[in-house]
Amino acid sequence: MGKILVTGGAGYIGSHVVKKLGEENFDILVVDNLSNGYKEAVTYGELLVGDIGDQKVLDKIFENQIDGILHFAGSIIVPESVEKPELYYQNNTENSLKLISRAVKENVKGFIFSSTAAVYGESKKEIVTEEDQVAPTNPYGASKLMTERMLQDISNVRDLNYVIFRYFNVAGSSDCGKLGIRGENATHLMKVCAQAATKKRESMTIFGTDWDTKDGTGVRDYIHVEDLADVHVLGIKHLLAGGDSALLNCGYTQGYSVKEVVSEFKKVSGVDFSAIEGERRAGDIGCLIANSEKAKSLLGWTPKKNQIETIVKSAFEWEKKI
Ligand code: UFG
Repeated sequence: MGKILVTGGAGYIGSHVVKKLGEENFDILVVDNLSNGYKEAVTYGELLVGDIGDQKVLDKIFENQIDGILHFAGSIIVPESVEKPELYYQNNTENSLKLISRAVKENVKGFIFSSTAAVYGESKKEIVTEEDQVAPTNPYGASKLMTERMLQDISNVRDLNYVIFRYFNVAGSSDCGKLGIRGENATHLMKVCAQAATKKRESMTIFGTDWDTKDGTGVRDYIHVEDLADVHVLGIKHLLAGGDSALLNCGYTQGYSVKEVVSEFKKVSGVDFSAIEGERRAGDIGCLIANSEKAKSLLGWTPKKNQIETIVKSAFEWEKKI
């Protein structure tokens, strides 16, 4: 049995997956350029610091026999992608092509790719399935969608199976208390609320109260990072066992509004932080919820942490710690 390569394994989602793979005794090689990752977040396996866009790093990786790849490395900030599209197409598309091509050459059995609900863009439906129309509204979503397509086209004619996961709104931290979202300049709702609830910021803003949703604020499908990590382990096992390629949404098919998330944070923390009603944020959409039946039926995935209280507590506990 060869190694499992995890690119971006020192980052938020990647590090949770590395931990689960390690607990299941996979032999892991993590590659991360540490632009958003942290050495100490790599709790299992060997860490190679480098960029997968670098040919020398690829050569070094494939000195090992690699049986499977989980590809998390990439750029992930939507507004930044609008300002610096070249960076996003390079990191998320061009570098992914280099890795996929090399994987084919090296006879890697399975390739897992981190995609995003941002590929759906302004969806006409509130609950989306994988077959629904894709129409990304920013370079981030477009750069991920292009990689999805490359992977599918290459897999059609080469001996490489894939699972593409489209993540909805990922939140929470690990049960062990060692892993979670870091970084000061938070833009994600759960992180912003956690900072307000721990008094690291004085207030937060609710972006828009005039959406066509249950209470006028944006509705999203928040998924606990531990459940997301579980589905990745199931995905790589599926591919290593010779399973077919698949494109899978990852969410809970439940939507919570900004106001509901804010009030849950206030309840859990006991802190009545100020939530100011403001204008809509550029590029936002009203509502996006995942139909994730395919992930459940194909991989036998059973989410365990799909209570909003569990997710919020997990995000709050982590924020208190760091
Ligand atoms: N929101 C606020 N105030 C804040 C931050 C967010 O009201 O301070 C609102 C947003 O307007 C939105 C909701 O909270 O209605 C969620 O916003 P996030 O920034 O947490 O997440 P997004 O849904 O905008 O985007 C996230 C990831 C993307 C990914 C997308 C997929 O950031 O990378 O989910 O749905 F593509």
